[in-house]
Amino acid sequence: MTPPFVHFHLPCRLAWGAGVGAILATVLTISLVTGTEPASTRSIADGVFSAAQINRGQKAYENLCARCHGDELGGGEDSPALVDDDFLNNWIGKSFGELVEYTREEMPSDGPGKVTRKQSTDITAYVFSKNDYPAGPGELEPTLDVLNQILITPKK
Ligand code: HEC
Repeated sequence: MTPPFVHFHLPCRLAWGAGVGAILATVLTISLVTGTEPASTRSIADGVFSAAQINRGQKAYENLCARCHGDELGGGEDSPALVDDDFLNNWIGKSFGELVEYTREEMPSDGPGKVTRKQSTDITAYVFSKNDYPAGPGELEPTLDVLNQILITPKK
């Protein structure tokens, strides 16, 4: 005799499958609509920028930033260091995108508005590499959608 709870009646299985599908679709829709990411946020400690980006960033940094922030990013007369805890603490908890946009909109402080988002992304990658954050295999795409998803976290 078959126990009553085991039944392989096809319409029931279809109904069950449709039910699960509907629930998954609802969860997906809610997360898309509210913008909550299901644990997919990346951190700058995960190797999100490439070695090529660091190299390009270093060149741009030397041209545009070093005269104030120093060759080794240690800061200058009126310009803060970009390699110490004070710097990191200003940005931990914010996104990579926020720092890229700050640099693009505010730096160089005596004549901002010339740094492109791609350059700012490269320079920011360089700055984090000088703070001992690792490079990874992939190039970080310089779009706000991507950059805003990357969280600035303490070093591992
Ligand atoms: C003319 C000098 C000068 C140049 C050139 C310059 N900066 Fe700055 N930078 C400053 C000053 C001054 C501040 C502090 C601004 C403030 O406190 O409002 C600053 C602040 C910053 C900060 C914030 C630091 C923190 O602790 O939060 C970053 C990041 C930064 N600069 C990056 C850059 C980058 C990248 C470049 C090159 C594209 C650059 N700066 C070029 C003078 C300069």
